Amino acid sequence: MSAPVLLTGAAGRIGTVLRGGLPERGWALRSLDVVPVTDARPGEEQLVADVTDLVAMEDAAQGASAVVHLAGISGESTWAAISHANIEGTYSVLEAARRAGISRVVLASSNHATGYTPRPAEGLLREEDAPPRPDTYYGVAKVAMEALGSLYADRYGMDVVCLRIGSAFPEPTSTRMLSTWLSPADQVSLVDAALSAPSPGFAVVWGVSANTRSWWDPAAARALGYEPADDAEAFAAALIVAEGEPDLSDPVHRLVGGQYTLPSFDAEHFEVR
Ligand SMILES: NC(=O)c1ccc[n+]([C@@H]2O[C@H](COP(=O)([O-])OP(=O)(O)OC[C@H]3O[C@@H](n4cnc5c(N)ncnc54)[C@H](O)[C@@H]3O)[C@@H](O)[C@H]2O)c1
Repeated sequence: MSAPVLLTGAAGRIGTVLRGGLPERGWALRSLDVVPVTDARPGEEQLVADVTDLVAMEDAAQGASAVVHLAGISGESTWAAISHANIEGTYSVLEAARRAGISRVVLASSNHATGYTPRPAEGLLREEDAPPRPDTYYGVAKVAMEALGSLYADRYGMDVVCLRIGSAFPEPTSTRMLSTWLSPADQVSLVDAALSAPSPGFAVVWGVSANTRSWWDPAAARALGYEPADDAEAFAAALIVAEGEPDLSDPVHRLVGGQYTLPSFDAEHFEVR
């Protein structure tokens, strides 16, 4: 195997899936998280560090071939918490990669970077037709992540691939996820493609499975070599029995960010953590 890929947020949900799947595709891993990884695989390097610690991240990046950056707060929180972990953290990861001479970084962005974008009247929504339109502080940090990635690609010639992940869960748990689900197998395939694509430069792509009800255009991700295998439709019947058919006039189904656009995500609900 070649030099390891530095995987931040390795102990989390997506990190755990990638730690299972990427080695089978030939990627050696250096797993990093602020909490220890408790189920390391044979050959997996492990580091406990905070991604906002630039010195620690410079050390962590030495000798790595690429970075997959997942670490951070994975939902809405206070501005102080989000801006530190998710914006400062992404800066630190990109700057550490640059200083270590790493030329490829894959960033876990989110649909919430563009959450107030409405469903198109017809056809599929392309990434370029969904410019920054965050639905939360969390979404703002993902916009900043994409902007930082763009800066490091343009200024330093790095390849930076931003994955606007939909809903990365073992299986869809709501009718919204019939459109937004990214299956575990497809999480692995998407990151593998983002690491392997020849010279992608700066790219922003949706991270979604081949869902029958998806309204996000898969073309840009497929251009990287991503071939999704799963379709949430297999879960549709049971979810529709439980929830009813999706009401496309409801913000949960009409806007990219779904429930994150609702008043229950107003700042007052996240003031004290
Ligand atoms: N799961 C989804 O549906 C989804 C959707 C869109 C985007 N994303 C993004 O993908 C990434 C991974 O998501 P997840 O579902 O695995 O989240 P998760 O919360 O399960 O994992 C995040 C991991 O990051 C670690 N972490 C947090 N702050 C850290 C820090 N300062 N330094 C080092 N490690 C730190 C946590 O300990 C945790 O293990 C996140 O950036 C999230 O915003 C996830």
